[in-house]
Amino acid sequence: MHGPRVAVVTGGNRGIGLEICRQLASNGVLVVLTARDEKKGSRAVEELQSAGLSDVVFHRLDVADRPSIAQLAEFVKRRFGKLDILVNNAGVAGTTIDPERLKDLQKQDPKADLKTFVDGYMGSLQQSYELAKDSLEINFNGTKHVTDCLIPLLLLSKSGRVVNVSSQVAQLKFMSNEGAIKVLSDIDNLSEAKLDEVMSAFMEDFKDGNLAARGWLPVVSAYAVSKALVNAHSRLLARRHPSLVVCCVTPGFVRTGMNYGMGLVSAEEGAAAPVALALRAEPADSGLNFELLDVCEF
Ligand SMILES: NC(=O)c1ccc[n+]([C@@H]2O[C@H](COP(=O)([O-])OP(=O)(O)OC[C@H]3O[C@@H](n4cnc5c(N)ncnc54)[C@H](OP(=O)(O)O)[C@@H]3O)[C@@H](O)[C@H]2O)c1
Repeated sequence: MHGPRVAVVTGGNRGIGLEICRQLASNGVLVVLTARDEKKGSRAVEELQSAGLSDVVFHRLDVADRPSIAQLAEFVKRRFGKLDILVNNAGVAGTTIDPERLKDLQKQDPKADLKTFVDGYMGSLQQSYELAKDSLEINFNGTKHVTDCLIPLLLLSKSGRVVNVSSQVAQLKFMSNEGAIKVLSDIDNLSEAKLDEVMSAFMEDFKDGNLAARGWLPVVSAYAVSKALVNAHSRLLARRHPSLVVCCVTPGFVRTGMNYGMGLVSAEEGAAAPVALALRAEPADSGLNFELLDVCEF
């Protein structure tokens, strides 16, 4: 007898991640909802269970904490012996915003003139070296370490899939740092060491105040680089493990805590494309980047 498919979702306690857990569980998947905060994660599991979704279990996971990743992998191995789906959703923006400016933005309707709204919003987000470091550590290194640690279990599945929740701002067309573009688009010669070099070069330029001069995206710079590195790492893994599907997806402009509740679609709608990609049996998805369910450029 075959048991249900088993999924791990990172950052499952709120926002898009919580909705991904809900929708996967509604589709008969046994979901390991993970969160860095035990209380918040357990509360999210209770919320789903009391909505009738009994096949959801909690396990703590801080993607920036290596021992917690190892403990999660050990738990999945012991309890299920394999993993079918990994959704790398946990992430941080790595920015702050002036509260008065935020109030102004929250009064606007993003739909009225989306481009002006998004440009105004992104231009208002403030970065710092420490926040940039955090966002690379969580968004890129965290995602990479979680995936690397769970790959042996995904390889034991008949159809292991990794879905990385990425972002439109990570597309290389928004970057003009030639060195980074060359490395990140040369998939045949990509390696973890080269990704680390891009990360170090970015942090160096951040420290020296050279982001614009060196062609990095001038706003949400660290977030964009962290997700561009996630995208490149996905392509590397897709090549390295032909029996797995590894892909990236942009969920839209979603009203969650990350965007201070501003956006075009609800978290429920934002979860739809990552969930569809996690569930469908389409080997050709591997190595691709999706904007909702449309294939797009990296
Ligand atoms: N919202 C959008 O418009 C949008 C657009 C493109 C891509 N995305 C991506 O979608 C994903 C989900 O974002 P969201 O909008 O749902 O944001 P959110 O509401 O801020 O949720 C982020 C989730 O990530 C978790 N997290 C952060 N750092 C973590 C860590 N070190 N270990 C484990 N979990 C951690 C948070 O946990 P805590 O509750 O403990 O903080 C929270 O559960 C992110 O990867 C984001 O970059 C969002």
